[in-house]
Amino acid sequence: MHTVSKKSMNKNWGNAIAQPAKEFPSTQLPILSGKIPDGLRGTLYRNGPARLERGGIRMGHWFDGDGAILAVNFTDAGATGVYRYVQTVGYQQEIAAGKLLYGNYGMTAPGPIWNQWRKPLKNAANTSVLALPDKLLALWEGGKPHALDLQTLETWGEDDLGGLTEGLSYSAHDKRDPKTGEIFNFGISPGKNATLNIYKSDSTGKINQKAPYKLDGVPLVHDFVLAGQYLVFFVPPVRLNILPVLLGTSDYGDSLEWQPQLGTQILVIDRETLSLVSCGETEPWYQWHFGNGYADASGSVIVDIARYEDFQTNQYLKEVATGKTHTAAKSTFSRVHLNPQTSKVIEIQQLSDRHCEFPSVPQQNVGQFSRYTYMSGFRQGTDISQELLNAIARFDHKSQILTEADLGENRYPSEPIHVQDAQNPQQSWVVIVVYDGNSDSSEVWIFDSDRLDAEPICKLRLPSVIPHGFHGTWKGA
Ligand SMILES: [Fe+2]
Repeated sequence: MHTVSKKSMNKNWGNAIAQPAKEFPSTQLPILSGKIPDGLRGTLYRNGPARLERGGIRMGHWFDGDGAILAVNFTDAGATGVYRYVQTVGYQQEIAAGKLLYGNYGMTAPGPIWNQWRKPLKNAANTSVLALPDKLLALWEGGKPHALDLQTLETWGEDDLGGLTEGLSYSAHDKRDPKTGEIFNFGISPGKNATLNIYKSDSTGKINQKAPYKLDGVPLVHDFVLAGQYLVFFVPPVRLNILPVLLGTSDYGDSLEWQPQLGTQILVIDRETLSLVSCGETEPWYQWHFGNGYADASGSVIVDIARYEDFQTNQYLKEVATGKTHTAAKSTFSRVHLNPQTSKVIEIQQLSDRHCEFPSVPQQNVGQFSRYTYMSGFRQGTDISQELLNAIARFDHKSQILTEADLGENRYPSEPIHVQDAQNPQQSWVVIVVYDGNSDSSEVWIFDSDRLDAEPICKLRLPSVIPHGFHGTWKGA
């Protein structure tokens, strides 16, 4: 029998999460190649699980890792980077104890079973960031956001945004209207039947409108979309089997059941009043992420998603925490045409058969038509059961062409962040953080957004490894 050593079986991406990531203070970033574009002025913020182990115990799911924020600030004097853990109360308590104390999405609390009943989940603050005028929020969908200093990334503490009363959570996928500055978001409150709480904030983040909707059972709702005058939710056919979670015999992740017979529930909400316009049901699928939505000239609502045919993606993401995966979970870039008045699906189109994750559009196009969608994916020929996202791409809705960036072997990019030149709207860039598994180091790469298939126009060295993260944002200077 052909034998392969364990080491060669492990893909290089696993090295990025093998040890807890190391923080660094504000540091000038050396340029490895090219030049920082003159119009690129502002800050890239990224969040992700940076510590997946404490006291020799590994966390159960990639989603459980303690969040750390990377900020890369571009000025006339060059680029500086700072990287710090979000100092949540749970994180500080676990440092003091020298061991894990809490359960989380993919793990029950360590120790005797009554720990499950006494302790809430730890807010991992690890999923995304929302840059407000006077603070940065670290987002995690199971709890409140944490406010941080925009420059130093010092953690100030949990923030209720003036409206998150007891038990209300704030998801990691806010949607900001580029014209009005209004910020929409939601949070799920569990119970026998969950409540979907919808929030509208002004541009400072202050919540000034809320609306609750009862859902059937406890589904997993990770993202939604702003589409013209609507907020659209696709509630996937995943439901929490709550008893084992309450008893402490199973964690959340393992208690989520794929129930395709339920179909995908559709909720269309009016963005002004936050009242329900329509609700309906369509065929089953699972999506973590929406690309964008808009209302077309005929009044139909168009919603782009990264579509999975089942919930195997949860198993795959759990395996990521071990540094080695074996479950394939394929997603495609798909488009849903919807009548917003009835929630009836008119058509579902597959826009590309290539794997799609983290689809997004330029900030100025959120909720409106966007010619381009940016996304992460896999290079051609990748064994997706073994690998982590290793490509970025841009889909042109006019030509239907997917343009990919070739990063080379063993390089793992973050979700692509689009940045428009404030002075020249014709010019924009895509900024990514790349983990290079060949040299076990991380870099910042800047592409011309129209030339993803060309060499990056600038590469910068980061002081230490930044593990694969989830979401980020750009705040213009
Ligand atoms: Fe997400």
